[in-house]
Amino acid sequence: MSNVIYMDHPLIKHKITMLRDERTGTNEFRRLVEEIAMLMGYEALSDMKTRDVEIKTPIEDTVQPVLDGKKPAVVPILRAGLGMVGGILALLPNAKVGHIGMYRDEQTHKPHAYYCKLPSFIEERLIIVVDPMLATGGSLIDAVNEIKSHGGKMIKCMCIIASPEGVAAFSEAHPDVKLYVGALDRCLNENAYICPGLGDAGDRIFGTK
Ligand code: PRP
Ligand code: URA
Repeated sequence: MSNVIYMDHPLIKHKITMLRDERTGTNEFRRLVEEIAMLMGYEALSDMKTRDVEIKTPIEDTVQPVLDGKKPAVVPILRAGLGMVGGILALLPNAKVGHIGMYRDEQTHKPHAYYCKLPSFIEERLIIVVDPMLATGGSLIDAVNEIKSHGGKMIKCMCIIASPEGVAAFSEAHPDVKLYVGALDRCLNENAYICPGLGDAGDRIFGTK
């Protein structure tokens, strides 16, 4: 699937292993999610456009590149996506932040949308959708549907851990959207949790349960 890019950096791999470890507590878990988001963001944003500006160094006048276009928007899928926002903002401190609220029904595993607030002029912004887990793919597929229905066009998605089922479903639904994946896991279990995965990302980030 040509829209999917898998991370191959040893730092990302190492940190994802620490994230998976059940002994990793909330404090360290949060820090790792943020660091991984920043490392993945660095890779995912490598094709951002620049334009040249004239500046003066202490030595001479010069023409140098700066980021072009409107401020990007980071859009976490609540709750767990919130944990990745700080990592992207470390790279793009001026980015706007939108929010999409989704929760999975525990029986059907289908997503339910409960909130959506996106920055204005969304059609002109690069939009980075973040959620640590891509399981069935339902939440991310619906989130991107929502963003597209508001006019969003330049969309990239970042997930720390994905299942093969989720990647296939997302690619079929949104072949035009690039999906950056930190690690591709083996499969989903009967509760639609990713194996080996890391458990419930929201609970581990927020210390619930
Ligand atoms: C988790 C995760 C994704 C979703 C992935 O959220 O953060 O949003 O599940 O599953 P899917 O690919 O099968 O849709 P959850 O619904 O548990 O909500 P939470 O973040 O509020 O805990
Ligand atoms: N959501 C999670 O937080 N973890 C999974 O493994 C699947 C969905």
